[in-house]
Amino acid sequence: MNPFLVSGYESPKYFCDRKTEAEKIVNVIENSRNLTLISERRIGKTSLLKHVEFQLTSSIIFVYVDLYPTLRLKDFIQVLSNNIIEKLEPFSDKVIRKITSFFAALQPKFSFNPETGVPGLEFTISNNSEAEKSVNLLFEYIRNSDKKIVIAFDEFQQILKYPEKNVEALLRSEIQKDNNASFIFSGSQTHLLISMFNEYSRPFYNSSQTMYLERIEQSEYTKFIIQNFKSHNFFIDDETAKYIYEIGNGITYNIQYLCHKLFSEQEKKITSDLAKKILNEILKENEVVYFNYRELLTRLQYQILKAVAKEFHVEKPYSIQFLSKYKLDSTSSARTAINALIEKGLLINLRGIHVTDWFFSLWLKQQP
Ligand SMILES: Nc1ncnc2c1ncn2[C@@H]1O[C@H](COP(=O)(O)OP(=O)(O)OP(=O)(O)O)[C@@H](O)[C@H]1O
Ligand SMILES: [Mg+2]
Repeated sequence: MNPFLVSGYESPKYFCDRKTEAEKIVNVIENSRNLTLISERRIGKTSLLKHVEFQLTSSIIFVYVDLYPTLRLKDFIQVLSNNIIEKLEPFSDKVIRKITSFFAALQPKFSFNPETGVPGLEFTISNNSEAEKSVNLLFEYIRNSDKKIVIAFDEFQQILKYPEKNVEALLRSEIQKDNNASFIFSGSQTHLLISMFNEYSRPFYNSSQTMYLERIEQSEYTKFIIQNFKSHNFFIDDETAKYIYEIGNGITYNIQYLCHKLFSEQEKKITSDLAKKILNEILKENEVVYFNYRELLTRLQYQILKAVAKEFHVEKPYSIQFLSKYKLDSTSSARTAINALIEKGLLINLRGIHVTDWFFSLWLKQQP
């Protein structure tokens, strides 16, 4: 098996470092606090949550809820209720009776996926007040649990995109009532999460502590890379492992992907030249997607993206210095274009801006 995973979480064996971070999160959970987990894209937030789940004792129930596919409050209720019944209760007639009577007002319907064995639960929701009622009841159900519960909402900023306007306040008031459960809010659209939790006027203001997930340290990562290659009879030296970390820009996904590909080459001596060749192959393989982006953007948006890629990181994107260096338009149209690129997730705003996807950024840099 290729020891460098490029999706999902298997076990601590395939997981590099994150010792202190995992300990901190476990401490937050044990003390029933809430946590907001933010980072650049693809640093390893989702995997860290799974890693924490792996380490918790069985007396704590960890419910992971991926909000990415949800588009409205009804979807939120659906994924939350499915994840709760899957994790909270061993599926039995007794549980069905308990849930049916607890949620009686919402006429719950059970389903059972014969392939996965996963139970499902659906409520009858035909208007906003029924939706709110379901949220109230779901959180009450969580509060009634005998065991300590952690609810980890991944891609939490998604709730801001629902057409219903009151979701932020509705969830905040439910979360506030709970003093035995812990809530984790994680997501990849940092600017949205940061404003949600740090602006005074917002319902979630000051409701949880923030953890900014940094890159895995180079020394830890190189140890992990060397160890995994060596245990499969590959040869790699310290310099080459460092080189892989650098060309992946320290971003977990990039490094995993580079190593995954290098491993599958089955070339037993890993060299910097080989790593470079693999990097070029990755850029080539993604080129169709990159060209497609170019087609979807306005000329100014594309010019800005390229300019940012050439600079790596731009602290003051609206400064005359940056704009005139790349012969970009006036500050106001540049501002609109930059905001649109952030909204699309192509640029990320973290103490200045940079292109979210490092491989895309390398490719852009090579463009005329
Ligand atoms: N500590 C780690 N050791 C090894 N591989 C990891 C580690 N953390 C994450 N990964 C791998 O890196 C990739 C990206 O991780 P993950 O999806 O958890 O990041 P993310 O921050 O949630 O990304 P996104 O911003 O896209 O939501 C995955 O393929 C995952 O398997
Ligand atoms: Mg994620």
